[in-house]
Amino acid sequence: MEITDGDGQGWPLLQTNMRSNTSFFKEQGLLGIFAALLLPIAVSLVLPFKKSLKNKQKKRGVITNTGGELGLAMRNIKFDSLIHEPWSGASTIASLFEQSCAKFSKHPYLGTRRLISREVIDSKDGRKFEKLHLGEYEWENYGTVFNRVCDFASGIVQIGHDLNSHVAIFSDTRAEWLITSQGCFRQNLTVVTIYASLGEDALVHSLNETQISTLICDSKQLKKVAAIRQQLQSIKYIIYFKDYEEVGADVKSKLNDLTILPLHEVEQLGKNNPTPPRLPEHDNIAVIMYTSGSTGLPKGVMISHGNMVALVAGVRTVIPKIGPGDVYLGYLPLAHVFGLAGELVILSLGCAIGYGSPLTMTDTSNKIKKGTKGDVSMLRPTLLIAVPAILDRIRDGVSKKINEKGGMLKKLFDLAYNRRLKAIEGDLLVASSLEAFIWDKIVFTHIRALLGGRLRFVLCGGAPLSADTQRFVNICLGVPVGQGYGLTETCAGAAFTDWDDTSVGRVGPPLPCCYIKLVSWEEGGYTISDSPMPRGEIVVGGPSVTMGYFNNKEKTKEAYKVDERGIRWFYTGDIGQFHPDGCLEVIDRKKDIVKLQHGEYVSLGKVESVLATSNYVANIMVYANSFNSYCVALVVPARQELERWAANAGIAYKDFEELCENEKAINEVQQSLLEAAKAGKLDKFEIPAKIKLLPDPWTPESGLVTAALKIKRETIKAKFKNDLQKLCQ
Ligand SMILES: *[C@@H]1O[C@H](CO)[C@@H](O)[C@H](O)[C@H]1NC(C)=O
Ligand SMILES: *[C@@H]1O[C@H](CO)[C@@H](O)[C@H](O)[C@H]1NC(C)=O
Repeated sequence: MEITDGDGQGWPLLQTNMRSNTSFFKEQGLLGIFAALLLPIAVSLVLPFKKSLKNKQKKRGVITNTGGELGLAMRNIKFDSLIHEPWSGASTIASLFEQSCAKFSKHPYLGTRRLISREVIDSKDGRKFEKLHLGEYEWENYGTVFNRVCDFASGIVQIGHDLNSHVAIFSDTRAEWLITSQGCFRQNLTVVTIYASLGEDALVHSLNETQISTLICDSKQLKKVAAIRQQLQSIKYIIYFKDYEEVGADVKSKLNDLTILPLHEVEQLGKNNPTPPRLPEHDNIAVIMYTSGSTGLPKGVMISHGNMVALVAGVRTVIPKIGPGDVYLGYLPLAHVFGLAGELVILSLGCAIGYGSPLTMTDTSNKIKKGTKGDVSMLRPTLLIAVPAILDRIRDGVSKKINEKGGMLKKLFDLAYNRRLKAIEGDLLVASSLEAFIWDKIVFTHIRALLGGRLRFVLCGGAPLSADTQRFVNICLGVPVGQGYGLTETCAGAAFTDWDDTSVGRVGPPLPCCYIKLVSWEEGGYTISDSPMPRGEIVVGGPSVTMGYFNNKEKTKEAYKVDERGIRWFYTGDIGQFHPDGCLEVIDRKKDIVKLQHGEYVSLGKVESVLATSNYVANIMVYANSFNSYCVALVVPARQELERWAANAGIAYKDFEELCENEKAINEVQQSLLEAAKAGKLDKFEIPAKIKLLPDPWTPESGLVTAALKIKRETIKAKFKNDLQKLCQ
């Protein structure tokens, strides 16, 4: 049976999920009166507390002599030399796991919601939707999980898996992912991870390139595996996580030459036949992680045990006090370095991980049965890791609701927000903690309830977070946001903002596990002697820099260099600048800078982020080449906005597709781009001279944006080649 996920899988769903979960929006009358009474009291009686300016001047990074000829290298100020492990003895993921499990053995570790009921609903257009009623979280403590991991580590040897071959995990994020991966690490097996949303070609490519012999997957992926079975020569065993659906006979028959076992049988086999572990060393490869590149087939990044524990050690030093008792919502894909690193940091701190998914996250999520609870309301997490797109959507959802309500409620919200904003930005006169307390009580608690009401820290990475959204999280959710910068090749992290740094738009000093150096790029006009700040290509070096690309010496040589002292450096292709306090700001991307006919450089990403502030833009890609003196743009319009405009303007159209072809509509969008460009102080040559409106949204499923919702320039260019050609004529 085919089940569709509604508007698509993954991140984009949060958009519709974050609506009116709260009584905040119904109580405006009462609140208004309450606030009107309280307000003068709050403002006049409360003595302003002086907020120190210390944080603004605090030095966070220092220049080291590690830069080499062209570079200027920075390290974290808190450590004289790079750190390699979270504590002495935790030099591999396996030892980190074993020691954490011993230390926290009685504390809850992995939580999964029990399925109470499941129904499939037919929608009008013939698609099927799944609705789940999920129960409370059921927890396994650290000690129990450790035993299960040992059983699995014995079991995989017992089924006959050749210990010199690789294992792949192809599954959504869940407790079994963590248990089987840790089991593999205990036998020094390299785990190949594949993003669940990668296409068939990419899947075949990665499983074949690494010659995996055992595949671990959830039962719903078996169908996909059966479809490509003929192209996978090396595969011998499949271990699957049993779900509510039985594996179909047709699927089984396509795989009947393989040994297929449910996970619990492998664990039982191991329990009955304990087998000694084969513990890895720190430079052995733990994971080969296939990432969706913007061009061509995915590349497998080789992550060693040492890389990962160094990263964990680095991140632990920059987050506020967190430990047993804290609860983390695990929903990010574990096949993504950010999700995996996050869970290992959590492991090292002894926190609990409750599993969820983007499709079941809130009470109004697509897959949640009406009237039952989503993951956040059930778990009430204290820690959240998110990509900016998710936080943007929470913000948009809340702002939209408040704007729709308007009136007293909106006035109150705006007032509260602006007061807090001034306070956070260091306006001394309004920085009173009592006032903050009052605003929290009357306005912001209701918004916080959306995310369970217990949040203490939000960690954000994967793409730059906009200043507006960062402030929204600071103020409305009342928690610090740690922003990270890094790539799969740097094992997720490289720079990380200190949680007491409330400035916006920067990604912080280097993590204590690596150096960050800027290298001049003369051709692109970025050099380390630029003023007021040194600028250049961002290069990351240290124990957290990964070992290179699997089976691809050429690409590895292009991007990785080892210097004379043995430090491994990765050339990111991003352009950054160092602030005087040692914090990094990412300002551009090498690939995204195009030289126009008359020699002006256009930074496509910069222009896109300015133009995206237009209400009409859901997605935009700016295009330029050196044969033209102007740029052009492909725009996916924000459908509701454009349709509202069309209704007001009295434009008749058959469907949205036709509206996108309408001259007046194109004109209207272009006008709004012009305004955005003016507000963003773009140069004339940076403003798209012609645009094309595209009716279909860009989603990760369509392959046009990444899971973190970054546009995939090359794919979009290829798909809309003809349109771009026409625009450039
Ligand atoms: C699988 O890999 C082998 C050798 O590594 C190669 O010859 C073959 O073409 C690959 N097959 C596919 C379907 O990619
Ligand atoms: C772990 O496996 C790798 C690759 O198979 C091997 O080179 C290494 O020696 C193994 N490590 C130990 C400690 O056995």
